[in-house]
Amino acid sequence: MKLIFSLILVIFTLFVSANANVESQVDRLAQFGESMNITLSQSVCNAAAAKAEHYATCGCPYVWGGTSCGCGGSGGMDCSGIVYTSFREAGWTGITRTTTTQYKQGTACSGCSGSNTSGCKAGDLLFYCFGCSGGVPDHVIMAIGGNRAVQCPEPGQDCSVIDIYSENYMLCRSMC
Ligand SMILES: *[C@@H]1O[C@H](CO)[C@@H](O)[C@H](O)[C@H]1NC(C)=O
Ligand SMILES: *[C@@H]1O[C@H](CO)[C@@H](O)[C@H](O)[C@H]1NC(C)=O
Repeated sequence: MKLIFSLILVIFTLFVSANANVESQVDRLAQFGESMNITLSQSVCNAAAAKAEHYATCGCPYVWGGTSCGCGGSGGMDCSGIVYTSFREAGWTGITRTTTTQYKQGTACSGCSGSNTSGCKAGDLLFYCFGCSGGVPDHVIMAIGGNRAVQCPEPGQDCSVIDIYSENYMLCRSMC
């Protein structure tokens, strides 16, 4: 009888600690560190690319620090803002807000770079350095298929669809 009680206690303890483990993993997932090395389903990246293409073709002005756009000239987004909002609207809230952290998320792209776009998948993020320091990129564009990408370039210009370019290219990260 004692043995049976001990066994039940052991099983119960294991069950509780397994649950606590899952909960603490979920808690940590909400934090930035756990969204590094993430690999989402490609459908999330396809949806993010479609959102980004929408904003890049609806008259969304570049606004430094901006993350929302009414289109037709209202609101605005910056280069990492369109990435941030597009992934969130595609259902992934783990994307961070700025270029200086987005470049650490996901995994290295395979077969996609500024000079060779043959393996670029929708949603891949290509990072650039225009006067950046310490190896931390200061510009990001999102691939949307083929050799095309979406970018919000600089004040006075709208977000737009462009060809992926190699000047000042640094690195590429894929979330899917
Ligand atoms: C991400 O992957 C790199 C290289 O495999 C590894 O060094 C790093 O610890 C990983 N980071 C996390 C948060 O898992
Ligand atoms: C581009 O990358 C692909 C792999 O994704 C490779 O097969 C091809 O040789 C590369 N082209 C050039 C010009 O480097």
